[in-house]
Amino acid sequence: MKLTLDGLTKTYKDKVALDDITFSFTPGIYGLLGPNGAGKSTMMNLITDNLVPTNGQILFDERNIGELGSEYRRRLGYMPQQQNIYPDLSLRRFLFFMASLKGLKKAESEEDISRYVRMVNLREVLGKKLGTFSGGMKQRALIAQALLGNPDILILDEPTAGLDPKERIRVRNLISEVAKDKIVIIATHVVTDVEFIAKEIIMLSGGKILRSGSPSELLRELEGKVRNIHIKDEDLPQVNERYKVSNITRDENGVIARIIADSYEDTFANETVRPGLEDLYLYLNGA
Ligand SMILES: Nc1ncnc2c1ncn2[C@@H]1O[C@H](COP(=O)(O)OP(=O)(O)OP(=O)(O)O)[C@@H](O)[C@H]1O
Ligand SMILES: [Mg+2]
Repeated sequence: MKLTLDGLTKTYKDKVALDDITFSFTPGIYGLLGPNGAGKSTMMNLITDNLVPTNGQILFDERNIGELGSEYRRRLGYMPQQQNIYPDLSLRRFLFFMASLKGLKKAESEEDISRYVRMVNLREVLGKKLGTFSGGMKQRALIAQALLGNPDILILDEPTAGLDPKERIRVRNLISEVAKDKIVIIATHVVTDVEFIAKEIIMLSGGKILRSGSPSELLRELEGKVRNIHIKDEDLPQVNERYKVSNITRDENGVIARIIADSYEDTFANETVRPGLEDLYLYLNGA
C-alpha cells in the first residue's frame, strides 16, 4: 500500500500554501510537524479529497485519487482540526450518522461503534449528548469516528490539541495501538506527540518539506550541536541573542541554558547533550 504526493501544490489566490511537494507514504505513523500556517491542514485536506490541488496529484497505489473517488474515500478515516461536533446529538447517534456517511451497513455500524467506543473508553457515555463532553472526550469521540470502517489511511489533524497531559498520553497510546498496517498521518505542533511513535517525521514550513526521515536519521544533523552551558543570570540576554535556546533551568550555581549552535566558541562551562526532535524543530524554525 502506497500513497504518493506527486508535485502537489495548493494556492489560495496568491498565497502558496503547499509548494510542489513530492513524498510517498507506506504503512506506519508519520508525524507532520510545522508552525502555524506551514500547510499541514492544507496537505491533509488534499489527501482526504476535501480540496482539489492547484497542481500535481495524489496517487493511491499508483492510481489518481480523483479517479478512484468513493472507492478511495471509503478507505479513509479523517479527524479534522476544527471540532465540528453536533452538541445536541448523543455519541451513539453521532457515530451512526458518521457510519452511514461512510456507507457502512447497519450491522457493520453496530459492530464498529461498539468496538471503537470501547477502545477510546467512551462506552459508558454512548447515550450522552456531545455538548456535555469535555475537550478530551470530544477528541476521543472524533478519533472513534475516524476509525469507523477500519480505514487503511488515517488522517489526524492535531488530535491532542487542548488536552491535558494525561489525556494527551492516552490519545497517543491509542493512536499507536490502532496504527498497525495503516498509513497514519498526524499533524501536530507538539513534538512529543510523535517523537517516539512515528516511523518518519516530516518537517513542513512555508508549504515546503524542510526535512523528512526517521527521528534518529533526522537527529544526526544535530550531533554535537546541542549543549548545556552554565551561565549567570546576567549572561542570559547575550546568550539568547547569540544562540537558539531550547530550554532554561537553574541549579544552585546559576542558570543552565540548553543551546543549539553550529559552532561554539564561548568560554562558559559546557557539555554537549543528546539532541531531541524539539531541538531540531527550533533549529529549523527559528527561536
Ligand atoms: N481557505 C483559505 N483561504 C486562503 N488562505 C488559506 C486558506 N486556508 C489556508 N490558507 C493559508 O494557507 C497557509 C497554510 O495554512 P494551513 O491551514 O494549511 O496551515 P497549518 O500548517 O495547518 O497551520 P496551523 O498549525 O495553524 O493549523 C496559511 O498561510 C493560511 O493562511
Ligand atoms: Mg492546521
